[in-house]
Amino acid sequence: MTTGDDIILDIRDLQKVFKVRRGGKLHEVHAINGISLAVRRGETLGIVGESGCGKSTLARVLLGLSSADGGTVHFNGKNLLSLGRRELSAVRTKIRMVFQDPYASLNARRSVRDSVAETGDIHGLFRTRQERVEKVAEALERVGLPADFASSYPHELSGGQRQRVGIARAILPEPELVIADEPVSALDVSIQAQVLNLLADLKTRLGLTLMFISHDLGVVAKISDRVAVLYMGDLVELGPARELFFDPRHPYTELLLSAIPRPDPSTRITGAVEVSEPPSRMHRWTGCPFRDRCNRASDLCVQQAPDLREVEPGRFVSCHHV
Ligand SMILES: Nc1ncnc2c1ncn2[C@@H]1O[C@H](COP(=O)(O)OP(=O)(O)OP(=O)(O)O)[C@@H](O)[C@H]1O
Ligand SMILES: [Mg+2]
Repeated sequence: MTTGDDIILDIRDLQKVFKVRRGGKLHEVHAINGISLAVRRGETLGIVGESGCGKSTLARVLLGLSSADGGTVHFNGKNLLSLGRRELSAVRTKIRMVFQDPYASLNARRSVRDSVAETGDIHGLFRTRQERVEKVAEALERVGLPADFASSYPHELSGGQRQRVGIARAILPEPELVIADEPVSALDVSIQAQVLNLLADLKTRLGLTLMFISHDLGVVAKISDRVAVLYMGDLVELGPARELFFDPRHPYTELLLSAIPRPDPSTRITGAVEVSEPPSRMHRWTGCPFRDRCNRASDLCVQQAPDLREVEPGRFVSCHHV
């Protein structure tokens, strides 16, 4: 990555290992396998990959909801993984999350006002009751909901409205970075676009940095400036959204693209890849983790894991056969 950029979040060699018991044996799942990634201030960075590749784990580690097992995460120059409790608490207002399922993330017994105000309450952001009412009204207005929604309860809202409340909750403390983990996957197709547009609009209006997580490369490419493709806990491709979408370089990105309708039929997918399941995560790999699904695989891919390298300015790929 070029050094002149203003980096808000600098992830270096991040590791997260889960120990799981299967068939009486303890296994290690390398959910995040040494990811390095720098997020530029003000960009929308898409994170894409199929189920189990580590997207939510990455989000949880960045939010401090899950510990890391190695590496560093610098947010505005401070390593989040070594902060004390008090400093970490302050960061909680600066990095905010929008969850997939607004049903699950909102407390059914709390009013919209109490849910949206919660982080402000915890961090003492309101000096008066009046200010609390006003800040909640402002957050609701920003997500396109009338202020009187504050006195309603989650069950009275539609899925789309509930997700707007989830977004209002995320933006109330005036965060710098918002991580949205599959924010529209639980919504009706008809309202997905509205919520995506809202996120894109808020990002611009509030000067946010947005990390947008989805398994759907089509959606990710539309909303993102750059896209990071994860495969089994590894970053396999990173680049500008359009370039990656119309000219993928990693065979796994090609595979993801082959699963979605292409807007332009003239952009043919070259290296045909077999559609198959990812291999088991229950053991550690030598060599390239994608090799068994890849028709470019050679002996080298079996022996040696490829490093992420810059194949042209701004485009990073971890494949021996780019
Ligand atoms: N708490 C946990 N304990 C054990 N293993 C876990 C835990 N959380 C995640 N994993 C494992 O870590 C890997 C990454 O999971 P993660 O939820 O981050 O994937 P994801 O990319 O978000 O998938 P999805 O698209 O289904 O949401 C998976 O193999 C998963 O089974
Ligand atoms: Mg997930």
